[in-house]
Amino acid sequence: MRKIVIAIDGYSACGKSTTAKEVAKILGYRYIDSGAMYRAVTLYFLEHHVAVTNPREVIKALEGIRLSFHINPKGVSEIYLNGLNVEDEIRSMEISQNVSQVSTLREVRTLMVDQQRKLGKEKGIVMDGRDIGTVVFPSAELKLFLTAEIMTRAYRRQQELFAKDELVELDAIVENLQKRDEIDSTRKESPLKKADDAVLLDTSHITIDEQVDEVIRMTISKAFDGRK
Ligand code: CDP
Repeated sequence: MRKIVIAIDGYSACGKSTTAKEVAKILGYRYIDSGAMYRAVTLYFLEHHVAVTNPREVIKALEGIRLSFHINPKGVSEIYLNGLNVEDEIRSMEISQNVSQVSTLREVRTLMVDQQRKLGKEKGIVMDGRDIGTVVFPSAELKLFLTAEIMTRAYRRQQELFAKDELVELDAIVENLQKRDEIDSTRKESPLKKADDAVLLDTSHITIDEQVDEVIRMTISKAFDGRK
């Protein structure tokens, strides 16, 4: 079966990363969480008090950032910021509240997209984010666009945070998701939108297993398509 590029985009907390991770594991593909890269940049900016309204300061700060992914003993890809594992830290509410603002910056996006394309040079990759099918890999063989009802998404995110001992009220999560969707969809630089050739998948009433099965089925069909 030939290897392909799978691009998964969509709204916050629709199950993109959970699906992408599982699909990558089953297919033996590499998984790249592009959102983790924007979150790690946000963490660095907050720690170094970078004024995001000052392009010169942003460019200078970006020069001090080195991002990499490493596979942990459980076989899961984790992000490192300047050599330190920041996988847990970047999932906090504080980062969620600042990441979309940082992600509107052209300087940040240019650097991230460039690194994402390098990471995906070889086929056999699953990448999830907001602009993967539209900007990063416009010629990906399989593109998906995930959506889900807001309360389903908020509840899932609350469970994720709870599992990391962070207790957040549902209202605060709903507000954060809606605000991020709004910023992500209306920004000038690569806004979140469905690529014309992406398959729309509403995950509100299906389980993760069903989501994963669907993506595997589509991948197999695409992978054999090119063989004709
Ligand atoms: O996991 P969740 O759906 O909450 O978000 P994420 O995938 O970790 O992405 C966090 C934020 O990074 C998004 O809300 C976007 O503002 C930004 N992002 C982006 O602009 N482009 C991407 N390709 C991925 C994420």
